[in-house]
Amino acid sequence: MRAVICKSFGPPENLVVEEVDDPIPGPGQLLVEVRAAGVTFPDALMVEDKYQYHPVPPYTPGGEVAGVVRALGEGVEGFAVGDRVSAGSAEGGFAELSAVGAGSARVVSDAMSFEEAVGISYSFGTALYGLRDRGNLQAGETLLVLGAAGAIGLAAVELGKQIGARVIAAASTDEKVSLCRERGADEGINYSTENLKERVKELTGGKGANVVYDPVGGDYAEAALRATAWEGRFLVIGFTAGIPRLPLNLPLLKGCQVVGVFFGAMMGREPKRAKRINDDLMALCDEGKISSYVTARYPLERAGQALRDLTERRAMGKIVVVP
Ligand SMILES: NC(=O)c1ccc[n+]([C@@H]2O[C@H](COP(=O)([O-])OP(=O)(O)OC[C@H]3O[C@@H](n4cnc5c(N)ncnc54)[C@H](OP(=O)(O)O)[C@@H]3O)[C@@H](O)[C@H]2O)c1
Repeated sequence: MRAVICKSFGPPENLVVEEVDDPIPGPGQLLVEVRAAGVTFPDALMVEDKYQYHPVPPYTPGGEVAGVVRALGEGVEGFAVGDRVSAGSAEGGFAELSAVGAGSARVVSDAMSFEEAVGISYSFGTALYGLRDRGNLQAGETLLVLGAAGAIGLAAVELGKQIGARVIAAASTDEKVSLCRERGADEGINYSTENLKERVKELTGGKGANVVYDPVGGDYAEAALRATAWEGRFLVIGFTAGIPRLPLNLPLLKGCQVVGVFFGAMMGREPKRAKRINDDLMALCDEGKISSYVTARYPLERAGQALRDLTERRAMGKIVVVP
């Protein structure tokens, strides 16, 4: 099969495509013929060895796939050859074939394309766990989403609307803000040209946002924390703009909570809860209420460019590698 190979850690431009042996599914694994692989920020960090998970080169990047089951490893139950599935793993997705843990896989309904299915767990799973389980977002509350046009951000915008919240989408360009409005956001803030804290205060009659969903961090985090309402919940999701240091007087003054959200760790620690979230996601997919919004497709040869577009803030919604 053909696969993208990271031969040694370095910039994504160093990735190459090579003919390699087909992977053999181990016990508990599925062999998936990859039809679409999601491109994520952790993938970009991993090729430069800047992530908390450290792959061993040479390896194939790509942490989420959707495709057709070609073979079952020993002990796998509940799947059959030919099933349409989506699945997650730490690596191995940017390839024609990928061996993934059956525990991470779920059957995709015929109504959903492989591209729409990829990233449901990563983006919408994080958003559902964050907004509902950790943030206790309620109908009628105001939700502020940073990096709102990214894969994780857009999922939060869409789920926030389904929960019944008023959603303020904040992003770095007018084009990104427009996309968020098209996908349901009630209000938009371009935080490159507008003052984030002041605009949120204006839009909420001075009260601030009840829940903040922050996959961006950096300097945006403090501005957003200052725009959080009394007894609000500030959800720490990720740090694409860097890990911020926050003044601890702010949570006291606002009576608010700063809540860490680590979806991957929860899945390992709380399998029953992870299954419940997964079942809820599948129900939302089957009802046609959620799907990844794909804006760009790249062949294997351009996987490095896909990662570069993500880290240089050109990507919007979900971007995918199509082998
Ligand atoms: N906590 C969890 O359980 C969990 C789960 C999955 C992912 N994450 C984390 O969530 C973050 C987002 O992941 P993602 O893959 O979905 O990315 P993404 O949503 O596609 O991108 C996030 C957004 O970050 C903003 N950004 C600000 N500064 C940036 C910079 N220097 N480089 C790149 N983007 C920048 C961009 O929006 P603007 O240009 O509009 O600012 C971009 O759209 C990552 O840190 C990831 O590790 C956390």
